[in-house]
Amino acid sequence: MKYPTLFILFVVFLGCSKPSKNTSMQKKIVVAHRGASGYLPEHTMEAKAMAYAMHPDYIEQDLVLSKDDVPVVIHDIYLDDVTNVHEIFPDRKRADNRYYVIDFTFDELQQLQVTERFDPKTGKQFYPKRFPKGKGNFKLHSLQQEIELIQGLNYSTGKDIGIYPEIKNPEFHHTNGKDIAKITLDVLSEYGYKTKSDKCIFQCFDAKELERVRKELNSNLFLVQLIEFEEETKQLTHFATYADGIGPWYKQILSKKVDGKFTFTNLVEQSHKYGLKVHPYTFRADQLDEFSSFDEMMHVLLIDANVDGGFTDFPDKMVAFLSKQ
Ligand code: G3P
Ligand code: CA
Repeated sequence: MKYPTLFILFVVFLGCSKPSKNTSMQKKIVVAHRGASGYLPEHTMEAKAMAYAMHPDYIEQDLVLSKDDVPVVIHDIYLDDVTNVHEIFPDRKRADNRYYVIDFTFDELQQLQVTERFDPKTGKQFYPKRFPKGKGNFKLHSLQQEIELIQGLNYSTGKDIGIYPEIKNPEFHHTNGKDIAKITLDVLSEYGYKTKSDKCIFQCFDAKELERVRKELNSNLFLVQLIEFEEETKQLTHFATYADGIGPWYKQILSKKVDGKFTFTNLVEQSHKYGLKVHPYTFRADQLDEFSSFDEMMHVLLIDANVDGGFTDFPDKMVAFLSKQ
């Protein structure tokens, strides 16, 4: 074989075997935030099935307990921003005029219709270009039901898409005599999610409770400490004693623009130094803020800032961006 032919074959071989930048070591994970919530009402089974078909790495579940201790997949401890509870149970609001998930049994919750998120004071839909409020026939569901959907789809498609549960407001649950962390960990364990090699990432904003999950409840799951406030970004060494990653608001990673270019805080670099993965929230194609396009947002955060993945309402767009890298 002549050298030019050999050379061409070598180049073709290199081209074929060249790893994508999104290989396993550096793989950046896509988390479907409340499902494909940019297209269907958040945390409905329909939004989860649609998200699954977009092939994210994980699908998120926010969790609140019902009166009879069922972990319900819903973002708020209240019902009135995403359901018609005021029509079905008008007398069941508390003195603050709000309806609480924890005051209803799971059977009662099943009687509600779920709709696109809206402001209960004005009735106005939160994201006007998303699925029309009041249309369709959507219901609340439990963590168990959603796991069975995802594990069933993993079986029928041969994929291995994970879950990313978040326990909401554990202190509120404790005040109401409930241990949402323990109940959730028991359900996860029952469905085979026990260790860091199982496809489950457990998240919480409450640092004391997440530390308890590791140190008192002895969970071996991959734990992500969510971060809301600026001062929390200075507690990375403590977080690293029990967590495997952090979930900051993406704006905590961005610094001032210099000569039209984004610059960054040291949050990602410092987190990586302490062995923590960084999964910021939330990438929305219909709320770009300082970015001119979703792809620019992805490039700046995933590539330039070097985060390890993130939460998005538009999993199809984030998967498409990463597949081009
Ligand atoms: O859990 C991370 C992400 O979901 C952001 O928080 O408020 O949407 O649950 P939230
Ligand atoms: Ca969440």
